[in-house]
Amino acid sequence: MTLTQTTYQDQILASNGFFGPYGGCFVPEVLLPGLSEIADAFEAIKTDETFLAEFRQTLREFSGRPTPLTPLPRLSERLGGAQLFLKNEGLNHTGAHKINHCIGQALLAKRLGKRRIIAETGAGQHGYATAAVCARMGLDCTVYMGRKDYERQRPNVYWMELLGARVVPVEDGTQTLNDAVIAAFKDWVAHPNDTYYLLGSAVGPHPYPAMNTFFQKIVGEEIRRQCLAQAGRLPDVCVACVGGGSNAMGMFFDFLDEESVRLIGVEAGGRGTRSGEHAAKLLQGQAGIFEGYHSYFLQDGDGNIANTHSVSAGLDYCGVSPVLAWLADAGRVEFAVASDAEALEAVQTLARAEGIIPALESAHAFAYAFQLAAELPREAVVAVNASGRGEKDLFITMRHFQEESLIQYAKNLLTI
Ligand SMILES: Cc1ncc(COP(=O)(O)O)c(C=O)c1O
Repeated sequence: MTLTQTTYQDQILASNGFFGPYGGCFVPEVLLPGLSEIADAFEAIKTDETFLAEFRQTLREFSGRPTPLTPLPRLSERLGGAQLFLKNEGLNHTGAHKINHCIGQALLAKRLGKRRIIAETGAGQHGYATAAVCARMGLDCTVYMGRKDYERQRPNVYWMELLGARVVPVEDGTQTLNDAVIAAFKDWVAHPNDTYYLLGSAVGPHPYPAMNTFFQKIVGEEIRRQCLAQAGRLPDVCVACVGGGSNAMGMFFDFLDEESVRLIGVEAGGRGTRSGEHAAKLLQGQAGIFEGYHSYFLQDGDGNIANTHSVSAGLDYCGVSPVLAWLADAGRVEFAVASDAEALEAVQTLARAEGIIPALESAHAFAYAFQLAAELPREAVVAVNASGRGEKDLFITMRHFQEESLIQYAKNLLTI
């Protein structure tokens, strides 16, 4: 453990919202009291054993933690390189890592006396987890979702509504996550006193990037224990997909102090490097301020936010965590891309070789990890974060793998 690396963790948790030049809190004045109330509460709970015990208990009893670290022996053998391990966040209740920060923030909202929760969602996993946690804790829940995501992640819309949430499709802009975030902020500006904005990634104004990292760091803490017990050593490489950055920060945080552990974030390469065809903001974006924080964003030549594309709704977002922007500049986290086609292929490869169907978001991490593992020696250990399970993507993957059956199924449904 070196001093420099220790300070990565310390600086993230002790930060006043800035990570190097990134982060901050650039919001309309009406939101400042609400955000500083949340920042003060976050500061207090970080060391409040009563709060942390309730957080851990809810993760255990409601979400089913710890999630397993599953070896992938057949794939490792086939690739002929490193030993692959899969952290199965998809086995969390509601199907993804998102529930970790939802439980943490909902407990915080209750502590602040807020009974009305709003959230944005892309793939629907954050909305689904928010709706479940709100139902469990007796909180009123409204979720904003871009119209395009509302249509392509329909199963999650249904679950959210069944759980009693109001799901509002957002018709503005590109009708994806970015527009849902803006709609949620508009709602908060109109209801600043009674409403808590339960933001779904390690993005946004202070304190969300540090706070969601804090609630997600359980993922890496478990991987450390499990990998030592199962492989007898720490992973040599940790790989996670990057949308806003919450599953990546959850996996990476515990290893920031370990020089020997390579940390790799995989962004959505979509259909290629042309604007509007991908969502690789760290590899292709520029620094700027948007949605209340300073980070890398995909922008056009005039500095306007550019359109994005990814087959996975959860990665189809123009910005990225300011914490990851800082760690990228520092060279502590490396970044790569996987395309739509590579992610779809990785879904099928993992399903057939190991019996696990990952979310399309997570499949980006697997697509890259498969290439990397093949190049590494057999004694190397590569851990990949399966941030979610693939059921929500039924209609997308089915359209890709079995289009005719999907059409037939839809026709049959109408006649039942
Ligand atoms: C399963 C899954 N993985 C990854 C992501 C990307 O978000 P983040 O980068 O915050 O983990 C999402 C977002 O919806 C998701 O549903």
